[in-house]
Order: sequence, then C-alpha cells, then structure tokens
Amino acid sequence: VLIRATIADTSRSGDSTSNPAHLSIVEDGGLLIEDGRIAARGVYSAIRDVAPHAPVTDWRGDWVLPGFVDTHVHLPQMPVLGRLGWSLLEWLEHAALPEEARMADVAHAAAVAARFVDALASHGTTTASVFGAHFAPAVASLFEAADRAGIRVAAGLVVSDRRLRDDLHTSPQVALRDCTDLIRRFHERRRLLYSVTPRFALSTSEAMLEVCQALLSEYPTVRFQTHLNEQRAEIDEVARLFPWSSDYLHVYERYGLTGRRSIMAHDVHVTASELERLAASGTSVSHCPSSNGALGSGIFPFRRHRLAGVHVALGTDVGGGTGFGMMKEALQAYLMQRVADDPTVLSPADLLYLSTLAGAEALGLADEIGNFEVGKAADFVCLAPPAGGVLAQVLDESDDLTHQLAALFTLAGQESVREVRVANDIVYQRPVRHDAA
Ligand code: GUN
Ligand code: ZN
Repeated sequence: VLIRATIADTSRSGDSTSNPAHLSIVEDGGLLIEDGRIAARGVYSAIRDVAPHAPVTDWRGDWVLPGFVDTHVHLPQMPVLGRLGWSLLEWLEHAALPEEARMADVAHAAAVAARFVDALASHGTTTASVFGAHFAPAVASLFEAADRAGIRVAAGLVVSDRRLRDDLHTSPQVALRDCTDLIRRFHERRRLLYSVTPRFALSTSEAMLEVCQALLSEYPTVRFQTHLNEQRAEIDEVARLFPWSSDYLHVYERYGLTGRRSIMAHDVHVTASELERLAASGTSVSHCPSSNGALGSGIFPFRRHRLAGVHVALGTDVGGGTGFGMMKEALQAYLMQRVADDPTVLSPADLLYLSTLAGAEALGLADEIGNFEVGKAADFVCLAPPAGGVLAQVLDESDDLTHQLAALFTLAGQESVREVRVANDIVYQRPVRHDAA
C-alpha cells in the first residue's frame, strides 16, 4: 500500500545522545509499505513512479507520524487520573494503591486491560513500557489484550515485598516463580516483551532485588523498569532502608539493574555522580513531566541529563500523570523546561523525537520502530484534526511545516487521531460520525 499524506519523522544525526535529532517533513509525502514494513519513502510523486500499481491510501492534508512510544505507564491507574493535590507517598497510599489492589479480581483486571489497550491505541501510542499489576493473572490479561489488539507492549509483574499494603506484597520466592512463568508465556511472543518491574527500591527488599538480578541474567533479552529519584521524602526513605548505599541509583547498581535494557522513571532529583553513571551504563530515563507537575515532584533537569549524555525518553505515567496523550506529554515537557531555573527550549524536532524514536531507543527497538527508515516496521499514527476546530484552522492558516508540527503538539488530542497502525495492521480507527444534519 502507498500512504499519501504530510509525513514527518526524526532520525539521529550522530550517536551521541546530546546531538539534536534531525527532523524530516514532506508535505505531499509517500510511504510505500510492503509486508508491514517501509519499502520506500519520499515525495509522493516519486514513490508513485516506483510503485505505479500500489493501492493508494489518500490522506492528503492529514499528518502521518511514527507511532508514539510511551516509556512509562501503569496498567491499573486510569481511574486515578485527576486525583490531584497529593504528594507521591500520600497519593500512593490514598489513590493509587487502593486501585492497584482491585487488580486481584481477575474479571476486573481483564476489563481494565482491554480499556487500557484501547486508551493507548486511540491516542496513537503503538508501543508502551507498562507497569502491569501486583497480580500475575492481571499481567497475563494485559499481554493477552495487547496481543489481540496488535500493539507492542513491554510489561511486567510489579514486584514488592514491603511498605505498600499487605495485599500487594509477594515474597521473593513467589515473585521468581510468577515472573519466570510470565516470561516463558509471553516474552518475545509476537509484539510482546517482558520487563522485570520492581515498583521502586522503597518497596523491595534486598532479596527481591536479587530475584530481579537473577531474572535479568537468566533471560538476556528481557527488559527492566523501575522508579528513581522522584521525590525527596522517597529518596530519604530509600537512604534509610539501604544504609550502605551512596545514593538511590547505587541500590539498583548493586544488583546489576542498570544498563541498556533499563528504563528508570522520573529522575527529578539526581546527583552529578548518578548522571555520570546513568550515562556510562547506557541506562535510559523516562521523563514524565505531567506527573512531575501533578504530584509536585519538581522540574526535571533536562539540560543536565543532556549534557551528561543520559538517554532520555518520554512517559505519560498514567495515573500520576494527566492522560495517555504523548503529544500533550511532549508539550508539557516543553512548557516546564521553558520555565526551569536551568531552562532549555525544546524544538518541534525534539518533541517528535522524544515521543517516538527516543522511546524506541530506550526499549532497544530502534532497529525495528521509531521512524520511517526503509526496512522498519510500519507503525504510524494518522492525525486529522476535526474540521472547523481551532487546530484545523491554525494548520490551514500556516504555510510553515515546522510551525504546523508544533501546532499539532500544542493542540492535538485524542479527537485528532484518525487511524493508528502497527506493522500496517490497523489497531485504531476513529469512528465515523453520523451527525444529524
Ligand atoms: N513510585 C512508586 N510507585 C509509583 C507510581 O505508581 N507512580 C509514580 N509516579 N511513582 C511511583
Ligand atoms: Zn510511575
């Protein structure tokens, strides 16, 4: 099939994370897709010439971007969206953890998983790194729902054995058994990946961190995710619980949990030494700006991460964050960096890079997804802002493509998502409205 639309993506100009991403926008662009992969890309008329018989999907005037990659999102937390006003530890106790406890009910968990996967796809997210639940059957439901829907998911059983609430705790022995079972059933099954997921150091014993380490060495391609340096009270408690540690990151390092397979969410309050070690180990940081604002965590030191050469991608952190939209999340990153004490101006290229290719790199999937390089899987979102709305009018009035892309990041929400595909399989289509005229 040959897609005809305004086509935008980013690529990396060098191998250093501090290099800005290169932005490509082709106004009347063509994407030739064969067997779910990009076969050719460029100006529509040129692609048409090399594939004169390919059926054309005519989305002239619409925008096609690589599918968004959300590097940090929690399966059980959609109902917690909007519970504003608390600090992290209060919010966990009063809002998030009671909701997490409901995932013990298998039927409830299956319904949540189906709604969650729909929410991702309908926002244009084609790949996500997901904190599953504290209950293995609920995590299995997520993998099954994602597999049915066709989206890419790296997810794991959230493991904790202290300081949450009794009904969310497991033991290192049971965690090892449950994780092993889930890895064997789901890891690398079609578009699924397993990610070892201790909730955070605060809720895991040393024996539990050893289990995580054992899983990573037993299964060399499973991923790892957790939280790091989100709020001061959390960091102080971690220092108390691990008196031998020199800082928060040290706790994870001690158990071999950093490296190219690892994504650490937040990292708002990070030391210079931690930044150096994150960069040296190739550990990725998931920046979750709306959550950092909503829970009062602070302003992410973006420039310091960049200067240190730490790889940064973007996460919505539903439900600490404010929704599933990755464009909104990227805008929030822009807004907060604008007013940071150590400010940086994120460009439209940065916003697109952070919400797509950066996430693919964080998950070790950059050979497969993240942009429209020939040979990659055709994961994309088609954006068509509703006619007559503010965004459609802004786009109509502008003849500057970079401004138009920035306007999409400023104004496009779920209503602008027309269609979403993974390896060219349709995973979401906007319902056609039959308005009474
Ligand atoms: N730290 C431990 N658990 C959580 C969570 O669910 N959300 C956030 N934002 N931080 C956490
Ligand atoms: Zn989180």
